[in-house]
Amino acid sequence: MKGTYDVIEDAPYFRAVERAASEVSRLFNFKEIRTPLFEASELFHRSVGETTDIVSKETYDFTDRGGRRVTLRPEGTAGVVRAYIENKLHADPRVPGKYYYLGTMYRYDRPQKGRTREFRQFGVESFGTKSPAVDAETLAAAHTFFRALKLQDALTLHINTLGGRESKANYAAALRAHLEPHVETLCADCQRRYQDNPLRILDCKIDGDSEAVQNAPRTLDHLAADDRKNFEEVLSHLDALQIDYVVDHALVRGLDYYTHTVYEFKVDAALLGSQNAIGGGGRYDELVETLGGPPTPATGFGIGLERLIHVLKQRGFTPREGHVHLYLLAIGEEARRRTFTLAHELRLGGLVVETDLLGRSVKAQFKQSEHHQAAFVGILGETELAAGTINLKDQATQEEQTLKQSELLKTIKTRLNGRSKAPDCSDCTEKGSQK
Ligand code: HAM
Repeated sequence: MKGTYDVIEDAPYFRAVERAASEVSRLFNFKEIRTPLFEASELFHRSVGETTDIVSKETYDFTDRGGRRVTLRPEGTAGVVRAYIENKLHADPRVPGKYYYLGTMYRYDRPQKGRTREFRQFGVESFGTKSPAVDAETLAAAHTFFRALKLQDALTLHINTLGGRESKANYAAALRAHLEPHVETLCADCQRRYQDNPLRILDCKIDGDSEAVQNAPRTLDHLAADDRKNFEEVLSHLDALQIDYVVDHALVRGLDYYTHTVYEFKVDAALLGSQNAIGGGGRYDELVETLGGPPTPATGFGIGLERLIHVLKQRGFTPREGHVHLYLLAIGEEARRRTFTLAHELRLGGLVVETDLLGRSVKAQFKQSEHHQAAFVGILGETELAAGTINLKDQATQEEQTLKQSELLKTIKTRLNGRSKAPDCSDCTEKGSQK
């Protein structure tokens, strides 16, 4: 299907980033939450917003057999908020209530580099307080995640504030006044947005780059004093954590639920082309109440895993897994029987082992060991079989040694450990470095 793809060679990359996401969430004490892939359509209309591109043009909607209007989730926040309300998570005395998710999202968008119709996100949501320290803690979790993948210097955090309800309304009025002379030149959607929700004109894919939009007023000039102070506090917490950022007053994000702090993680266009936002997020202090829950401020982010993996690859990262530690090669029928059981013993000990199950010639077995890029090749012939030994060849150094079969596990583990560069992320290693 257009805009979808099968994850085969990239599966180890996904596992690596998903593991890094789970590990960072554990450190920051975000609990995992898994919500359904589809929800009542109305949920997204009321949260992401009727006039957003996501809801007006990109949702996968259908009517189920019971006649209900259903939508495949285009993003994770709305479902988590629904779950938060339905499961009465607001009654939990642990505040903020912190949740993370990893999952598939669906947007009927024009497929291009960095944009697919099915994609995956790592997201976190933190409920229950307006404290600017919580915005900073959430951003620190994203920062730690990127650091674990050695991406921190490839990304720029763009941050802005929309302010609360009053500031947002002031800004919308200023924007309308600014755009009034240009309304006729805007696309049909934006002419509607001009009336209903002028902020959405700023991220329109057609009009977003027009001169009128580029010269639009900035949110900062329309902020209430408290909102400005709140933003300054977020920034000062980021300074304290030594998290770099660029204040970007043009940033408004493409979803309606945001209030106050909003941000995006952007990479150089050379790495990702025009779809250069790897992730984004911000505060949504009114959404829980809008969807029927008690007034509950909240903040969070979503990071696109496909875009992230694309950048990881360009930066030369390869996931650790997928490598064969040892290829066991047999010379003769009896040796073959022994390699079969020895492979099992070593796998139980934690090594990734391949051996020949097809009765291949010695030459063909060597070829297989090369195809698998095994770090070590263990050769078992009649002599070794009789002595309970094995001939071990280190493919990196070409060194050979004969050792007892009972010492094989320990020897290989020690040698592999000695080679790893103690990477920050237990699943990733830089290209060229050895296992
Ligand atoms: P978003 O900016 O719409 O935010 O999406 C977050 C990330 O998902 C994007 O930065 C991008 O990496 C990835 N993404 C979005 N659309 C596509 C696509 N068609 N193909 C590939 N990747 C894509 C949200 O979804 C909010 N729920 C984030 C949030 C959480 N805000 C508060 N809490």
